[in-house]
Amino acid sequence: SSTPLKVAVTGAAGQIGYSLLFRLASGALLGADRPIELRLLEITPALKALEGVVMELDDCAFPTLAGVEIGDDANTIFDGVNLALLVGARPRSKGMERGDLLSANGAIFTAQGKALNEVAADDVRIGVTGNPANTNALIAMTNAPDIPKERFSALTRLDHNRAISQLAAKTGAAVTDIKKMTIWGNHSATQYPDVFHAEVGGRNAAEVVGDQGWIENDFIPTVAKRGAAIIEARGSSSAASAASATIDAARDWLLGSASDDWVSMAVASDGSYGVPEGLISSFPVTTKDGSWEIVQGLDIDDFSRSKIDASVAELAEERDAVTELGLI
Ligand code: NAI
Repeated sequence: SSTPLKVAVTGAAGQIGYSLLFRLASGALLGADRPIELRLLEITPALKALEGVVMELDDCAFPTLAGVEIGDDANTIFDGVNLALLVGARPRSKGMERGDLLSANGAIFTAQGKALNEVAADDVRIGVTGNPANTNALIAMTNAPDIPKERFSALTRLDHNRAISQLAAKTGAAVTDIKKMTIWGNHSATQYPDVFHAEVGGRNAAEVVGDQGWIENDFIPTVAKRGAAIIEARGSSSAASAASATIDAARDWLLGSASDDWVSMAVASDGSYGVPEGLISSFPVTTKDGSWEIVQGLDIDDFSRSKIDASVAELAEERDAVTELGLI
């Protein structure tokens, strides 16, 4: 179709925004044949910087970019959007307690959930990248009662991609030979990257690795703490890889996952794998035409069970904290 897809990006003047917008505008989401209209939301003090980013977008003369609108009012920017990528969030500043962080982000995602509920297109899909991503998605979802719950997801695709990259490096396989990676739970250090259902060149990944010590003491912590390692090395947090994963997740959601593979997405639980209903938790999912299904029937051994349970317990605690704050 040549009707532009209206894509909202929040926090568009931020670090991730600076990578994300140019890839969206160049056709990385749906290919170079489908025009994209960007709707960029920022807070008022960041609008001037955002104008500069838009000047650069103009200067790229992207054939795919059908238009750009910027602003600080969610009801205007989200009007008629088909896809909303909620990247902007309040970072933890010095002396800020966890409760303060949850309240600050709660206010943002409450307002944005309400605005999406009011003005987004009927087919809207909402992907939350801004942290704490799972709980921010839960807040937005709860504040958008007219949007079906399955239209909300939080980003664990970066963790998924990191896990694929680590496993490829360990086994000497190409990233394209690795299938069925799963991130379970929260996008946080408690996440559980699961190689027991993954495949390397069609063989069970854990068997190919053949080293439980590496899985437990190397692979899992490396993936879970990769964000901190990037900050340590680069002096600021992962941005280009986060933007790339945001696009991977949205593209697969809209266009579908490969028939011999699945992806990781944090979505509202239906109770699968013992994850309490309603929590936004990461699962293995297959996607098709804008919808997703949790992969069923995987055998979960005691090791995986305890890892999934620990991350899900953290999600339940975050939900209880935002419930107490009156945000959901
Ligand atoms: P950044 O601080 O460079 O940019 C955030 C932008 O959001 C700022 O320009 C800020 O003005 C804007 N913003 C704040 N409140 C807003 C609001 N109410 N409406 C619209 N815009 C608003 O941060 P960066 O590096 O771009 O990261 C963005 C978020 O993504 C952070 O929360 C970060 O923790 C998270 N992140 C998530 C990852 C994931 O895998 N889920 C990976 C990496 C980062």
